[in-house]
Amino acid sequence: MPEQPTSPPAASPAPAPAGTPRLGSSTTLPKLELQDLFISYTDRQGRTVQAVENVSLTVANKPGQGELAVFLGPSGCGKSTILKAVAGLLTPDSGQVLVDGVPVTGTGRDRGMVFQSYTHFAWRTVRQNVEYGLELQGIAPAERKKLSLALIEQVGLKDFADHLPRQLSGGMKQRVAIARTLANKPKLILMDEPFGALDPQTRWGMQTLILDVLRTQDNTVLFVTHDVSEAVYLGDVIFVLSHRPARVLHRIEVPYFKERDAKLKQTEAFKRVENHILDLLYESNVQGNIRVGL
Ligand SMILES: Nc1ncnc2c1ncn2[C@@H]1O[C@H](COP(=O)(O)OP(=O)(O)OP(=O)(O)O)[C@@H](O)[C@H]1O
Ligand SMILES: [Mg+2]
Repeated sequence: MPEQPTSPPAASPAPAPAGTPRLGSSTTLPKLELQDLFISYTDRQGRTVQAVENVSLTVANKPGQGELAVFLGPSGCGKSTILKAVAGLLTPDSGQVLVDGVPVTGTGRDRGMVFQSYTHFAWRTVRQNVEYGLELQGIAPAERKKLSLALIEQVGLKDFADHLPRQLSGGMKQRVAIARTLANKPKLILMDEPFGALDPQTRWGMQTLILDVLRTQDNTVLFVTHDVSEAVYLGDVIFVLSHRPARVLHRIEVPYFKERDAKLKQTEAFKRVENHILDLLYESNVQGNIRVGL
């Protein structure tokens, strides 16, 4: 999280004009750069579905503090598609994904994804799930156990390390997914609406958990949501995406809120940013399916 304000809380953050190439603010090599991405699918009838169109943006590299970039866009616009391209799970029709300046050509441990739906090994306990990536790396059992238990404690599941996924609630399962992703120490964490299926109270707790966990590390996170409040609460920078095919409509630097706690959402400064984004959404005609708050 940034230690300095990216813009004063009282000011309305000015959006970059739509279509500005390579939206970003960093002068050093960005952590992530998307260059002119076009991605399409072929549906069952053989028709081409254009999911992503001409997306160019950068996410800054902020050593020692990390950066959380939010993709805010309506359902079906192409958010997961962009994340999958960054993860290396699909290849763009044209354009490039660069991580630390290096083109992505496939999946890699430097990028960890928390998926939209729960993904676990049902027969493995919480600890064994978290240890999965460490096993693949050949880390010795004692070290694996130490690392995984520390992460399990950090996500608040200390008493559930030996439980199976089916014995956990939805929120707990997503905590396991987060711990499992963090275990690999990825440079880039990709979170695809990780709290979408959770009730408001659990969701609120998970948002705070994410901020707490990330405060102790300097991760760069791409976080997908269609919830304006969640975007403002978590984001250092928000990319507002259009209806499908996804294009970047706006890049918004969120004022740095010193205290991000339960009271923040009630403050004038927070509401001002929320309203600013809502105005942009109405002006851009992309308000459909974008929720305000919880
Ligand atoms: N494998 C596929 N084959 C064909 N079309 C697809 C495929 N995957 C996604 N699409 C289409 O591409 C578009 C973008 O999908 P994507 O999953 O990226 O949207 P999204 O923004 O993540 O939506 P949501 O918020 O509902 O998760 C949608 O119209 C979807 O129907
Ligand atoms: Mg999606």
